[in-house]
Amino acid sequence: LREQTLVLVKPDAVQRRLVGDVIGRFERRGFKLVAMKLLQVPELQEGRGYVCGYPCIIAPRCHQADRGLLDRHYQHLQQKPFYPALLAYMTSGPLVAMVWEGYNVVRSTRAMVGDTDSAQAAAGTIRGDLSMHVSRNVVHASDSVETALREIGFWFQRDELVAWESGD
Ligand code: CMP
Repeated sequence: LREQTLVLVKPDAVQRRLVGDVIGRFERRGFKLVAMKLLQVPELQEGRGYVCGYPCIIAPRCHQADRGLLDRHYQHLQQKPFYPALLAYMTSGPLVAMVWEGYNVVRSTRAMVGDTDSAQAAAGTIRGDLSMHVSRNVVHASDSVETALREIGFWFQRDELVAWESGD
């Protein structure tokens, strides 16, 4: 079984240096990391990107968490009153997108992430341990196998997923 899910480590968590904590939890649980990247926010890239100092250009790939990508990812929330605030939050800094693979990974990951509303999230979950408020809830994880397929397609190109043998 090769079930996969999309996990986003949101800008608040990157800023708080929590990326390693989040990754460590999924690794220790036994899931396999098959894709990962740090995405820049185009508005922040302007004038102060590391890119400027190197002889390279931004590759024509999905390395930016831009408005279009977030609109697709959060399509179902666009009519919500909190959507403008959600967009501002999600573009407030770089974020990390990852694909994790494993047995029942979608369901297990949701359980590890905890309730969307951090105040309701159980201790021991990512949100229950690391977050106080729904509008700064540290991570996103796909809510079903179908959603995961769609969301992985928004954030990654096919050749960015790495197939490797983990011995299990
Ligand atoms: P996520 O799992 O990424 O899915 C939708 C996101 O919308 C959710 O996490 C929160 O970040 C955000 N969200 C949901 N409800 C609210 C709310 N009432 N106020 C602000 N943000 C919300």
